[in-house]
Amino acid sequence: MPEGVVTVAYIAATMLFVLSLGGLSNPETARRGNLLGILGMSLAILATVCGPRVTNYLPITLAVIVGGGIGVFAANRVRMTEMPELVALMHSLVGLAAVLVGYANYIDPAPGLVGVDRTFHEVEIYVGILVGAITCSGSVIAFGKLSGKISGKPLLLPARHFLNLAILVSVVVLGRWFLGSGSGGGLLPLVLMTGLALTLGVHLVMAIGGADMPVVVSMLNSYSGWAAAATGFMLDNDLLIVTGALVGSSGAILSYIMCRAMNRHFLAVIAGGFGTGTGVTPAVGATPAGEVQPILPKETAELLRQASRVVFVPGYGMAVAQAQHTVSEITQFLRGRGVKVRFAIHPVAGRMPGHMNVLLAEARVPYDIVFEMDEINADFPETDVSVVIGANDIVNPGAEEDPDSPIAGMPVLEVWKARVSIVMKRSMASGYAGVDNPLFYRDNNRMLFGDAKQMLDETLKHLKDE
Ligand code: TAP
Repeated sequence: MPEGVVTVAYIAATMLFVLSLGGLSNPETARRGNLLGILGMSLAILATVCGPRVTNYLPITLAVIVGGGIGVFAANRVRMTEMPELVALMHSLVGLAAVLVGYANYIDPAPGLVGVDRTFHEVEIYVGILVGAITCSGSVIAFGKLSGKISGKPLLLPARHFLNLAILVSVVVLGRWFLGSGSGGGLLPLVLMTGLALTLGVHLVMAIGGADMPVVVSMLNSYSGWAAAATGFMLDNDLLIVTGALVGSSGAILSYIMCRAMNRHFLAVIAGGFGTGTGVTPAVGATPAGEVQPILPKETAELLRQASRVVFVPGYGMAVAQAQHTVSEITQFLRGRGVKVRFAIHPVAGRMPGHMNVLLAEARVPYDIVFEMDEINADFPETDVSVVIGANDIVNPGAEEDPDSPIAGMPVLEVWKARVSIVMKRSMASGYAGVDNPLFYRDNNRMLFGDAKQMLDETLKHLKDE
């Protein structure tokens, strides 16, 4: 395939990626967005493989078979709730690829690069390896924390910000050494910088607590995009530059949105160890006192039948129990009886952005009754029953009322302002952030203990029976 045709295919792929991102921004068009992304990536791979730069097809064919096989295996095996771990692991591969491409480019440079062009190329290599190595090691640690293989507690070394600063200054000094050394002589500073960048990635993510991990994964997503863009500069591949920039900037925007949803400072995230500015492991807020009031599925059905406005608040437990289909059936039943049913979605409900929207869409819950936190929070005082399905941190009043709470300041869904709130969970265990929830002890709150799917099945049965 001639270079001109490859360029046209790359432009078409770029447009498909942009349209894909546009489609993914809304649940109604997400499926189409996904298809456009697949089409764009297939076109990009085909144009690259058939382009004039590829002369040996055997290694590429083998890589596609092995990589594709691993991808299909992982996609089939990984459960929806394990998706963030998988994503983190994949970011580490993008980072590793950037590091390897950087070394390959340095050891075997393109012929004819002299003067300023050569310096530019070496800066690209240096920056590409730096970003790639931070992304790689940071993503491995994020994977470990998300999967519980590494403790979710933040590792707060004394003078950790100075350590980060010292590493960054050393990276700049090594960069000067690298650029000043003659052809091939820069390998030592490159290896030293790679070691420091790997250490920085580990240290930045180790300093972050488990509850803040979603923002970190999104930040690493952004870093992996910039690493890909840097690789694009090294390989002189325009499509990789544009795609990397799209991933980098959309990841950064998503991180910003999530930081706002969790009341964290964006810049503090980048510095690592955010939300723990004092350098002390956050204290768990005061243990709420009082007694909880349990409720049974039969009574829950009774409350729902008498209500005219109901808001469901799904959380991680709904995903674990796979209760979305029963929730959808209950919704249909209640709507058929004239009850106004709506869903309230917190931006970090579940374990990844859009987690709840995907599950509700899968269960065919109409999009027009699913609302974002800001759209529905003011309506709880006019709600008869709010039903919390396997959610905890996102409905914790302590975030608003207890300045000592580790999640103080995080905006939450104010379910307790409804006439009655019902919390569905199996025990009194805390949520992801490990914080007690005073909601459980409120006078107008009832606890429906048990697996969410089982409890909802029983509630539906009682609704239909009577
Ligand atoms: P959590 O605070 O994690 O609470 C989930 C609750 O579900 C748990 O308290 C658990 O209590 C209950 N549960 C688990 N399995 C259940 C089952 N089968 N049936 C019924 N209940 C079940 O979830 P959330 O309220 O959705 O908040 C999300 C948290 O995850 C936030 O802290 C957020 O920062 C963090 N996070 C979010 C993301 C993104 S991007 N969404 C990514 C990573 C982390 P029991 O054990 O007592 O049943």
